[in-house]
Amino acid sequence: VKAAVFASGTGSNFQAIMEAGPMPCEIAVLVCDQPEAPVIEKAEAFGVPVFSFRAKNYASKEHYEREIVSRLEELGVEWIFLAGYMRICGPTLLQAYTDRMINIHPSLLPAFPGKDAIGQAFQANVEATGVTVHYVDEGIDTGPIIAQQEVPVMPDDSEGTLKKRIQAVEHQLYPAAIKELILIK
Ligand code: GRF
Repeated sequence: VKAAVFASGTGSNFQAIMEAGPMPCEIAVLVCDQPEAPVIEKAEAFGVPVFSFRAKNYASKEHYEREIVSRLEELGVEWIFLAGYMRICGPTLLQAYTDRMINIHPSLLPAFPGKDAIGQAFQANVEATGVTVHYVDEGIDTGPIIAQQEVPVMPDDSEGTLKKRIQAVEHQLYPAAIKELILIK
């Protein structure tokens, strides 16, 4: 089974997927909308082909998503794993990969959707937040939930220490959820 990871930034979740040991899928391509993002070097180090693009070079979201879909279809990609991909997916991608596109989000959804979920939780003074793996639909962080794990907020946490704790959980939960999902589908 072939899969694509979509990312825009650091790529620590991409790296966690690559280092998770035997996976039921091959990461056939990294799709990245930020040609200078650190995740690109990570992909190259793992020998994973990269498709990077700048949205502003296309007439619309539909245009760049059509190109993405045609590249994925050429490669025989069946699954998309969003890992810090900072763009809202449009109908072109969603229709091509219905029920085959998942995302990781650093909160216990439906709490704190959207950008800066860790900062939102920190500001809200909650006792616990977490990590969610979910299917992608047309909303922002609204699709059906696949896996969740709670992460406590400690009294002496800074946003930075909370972020570290959440990311450590992400790096375990995402590969585990992918393994389970692809084995049962
Ligand atoms: C992660 O916190 C993920 O949950 C969110 O974006 C962040 C990406 O981080 N969707 P990285 O690029 O994988 O390090």
